[in-house]
Amino acid sequence: MSAAGLGARLQAAYGFSARPSWSRELSRAVEEVCRRHGLDAGTLHGRLDAEPHLLDELAGLVTVGETYFYRHPSDIQHAVSIITALLAGRSAEEPCVVWSAGCASGEEPYTLAMELDRRLGAAAPARVRILATDVNSDALAKARAGIYSAWSFRGVGTELRERYFLPLQPNAWQVAPRLLERIAWHRSGLAQHAATMASGSVDVIFFRNVAIYLEADALAQLYRQFRRVMRPGGTLYVASADPFPPRELFTRVAAPGVAAFRPADDDARLPVAPPPSGPVPGAPPQRHDVKVPPPAPVTRVAATPAPDAPPPGGGVALALAEARRLADRGELAEALALVSRAALTDPLSADVALLCGQLHVATGELTEATSALRRAVYLAPGGMLHRYWYASALAAAGDRARARQMLLDVERQLAARGAAERVEDQQTTVEELADSARFLRESLS
Ligand SMILES: C[S@@+](CC[C@H](N)C(=O)[O-])C[C@H]1O[C@@H](n2cnc3c(N)ncnc32)[C@H](O)[C@@H]1O
Repeated sequence: MSAAGLGARLQAAYGFSARPSWSRELSRAVEEVCRRHGLDAGTLHGRLDAEPHLLDELAGLVTVGETYFYRHPSDIQHAVSIITALLAGRSAEEPCVVWSAGCASGEEPYTLAMELDRRLGAAAPARVRILATDVNSDALAKARAGIYSAWSFRGVGTELRERYFLPLQPNAWQVAPRLLERIAWHRSGLAQHAATMASGSVDVIFFRNVAIYLEADALAQLYRQFRRVMRPGGTLYVASADPFPPRELFTRVAAPGVAAFRPADDDARLPVAPPPSGPVPGAPPQRHDVKVPPPAPVTRVAATPAPDAPPPGGGVALALAEARRLADRGELAEALALVSRAALTDPLSADVALLCGQLHVATGELTEATSALRRAVYLAPGGMLHRYWYASALAAAGDRARARQMLLDVERQLAARGAAERVEDQQTTVEELADSARFLRESLS
């Protein structure tokens, strides 16, 4: 089977959309699976029908696993309010069920478990079942072990880490046992998993930063499944940069800064009334990107450059993408080595200085971190992401007053921009960055 044939097969099974680096990632995934099983590429292809786990392994290796604790904290806080209200109307025997669909290495469901514990105390979270699924078995193994480096804590203060994690060794913390036990993990494709779930069995679905990687028809099918498995009064969360669910199925909840949806035909009033009703400030309230029903002409969820087009910025951009991938796998030293080499090639790149600083924050090298991030701000004076990260390094280094001031400044400047606009990395939205800045600033008060 050719690489194109293999790609088509993965796309059919998992709904992945092709992205610029797709065929390079496929080749790397094939090499990795061959290495693990002592196969050559021809034998691997020949075995795919008889051994479907090999296709699953390949799928896990081509997904993007970026995640971290307290990513877009407003979503988590909103969900905990919804859950609290649902629990208030239920008996102790009727738990709330939350599904983290595309949980990567587990930071999202653990954040939810932490926030439930923080807001509801030790007893109530036991009434919430958290299910977390992903196709990537390496990411799930990390989630099950619950061991994280500081890279996963980027953007949150140390207080949460001290409260919910046990230090294992320098730059490694393990989730406290009472949270470790709280989550049921499953390795599965989303469509495949949804198909096994009973109708009306889930109260809250987190589906953030996954839709963006899926092809339109597969996504439309998945949103239909989400609607089927969701209980009345349930809520679906996506990221603000994701393609939103179709309005036939879901209606956006009026909650500022949160991309939350409830079933369109849901007569039950939301248990929590997040103020105010009406359009969500700063966000396009009726943006619904996914059309149902298919068959539709083949429409891309998001404009996708031609497969294998080199990323803008060439070698340095490739090095940065690879360094982020290594960091997401916990290989921080390797990531830093790569970025340091990129810094020699392109000393005036603000993106290189930014990633260098982020990685130093993650390894706890705060002098290097503040120095690299000061440089990033100097090279990109209007860069919101750069300023946010500089503030985050200052906070980690104990300079809380300057960090707070800079975060306030970032929030003010972002407030003047559209919520759905992207900041410099072209991924994070204005709304998400403002939310992270607020969360970090409040943790410093
Ligand atoms: C960028 S991460 C998002 C993690 C987390 N939800 C967050 O927002 O931080 C996307 C995850 O979705 C998973 N994923 C993508 N497509 C999938 C599919 N069809 N089935 C199962 N998991 C999938 C990937 O393996 C990856 O771990």
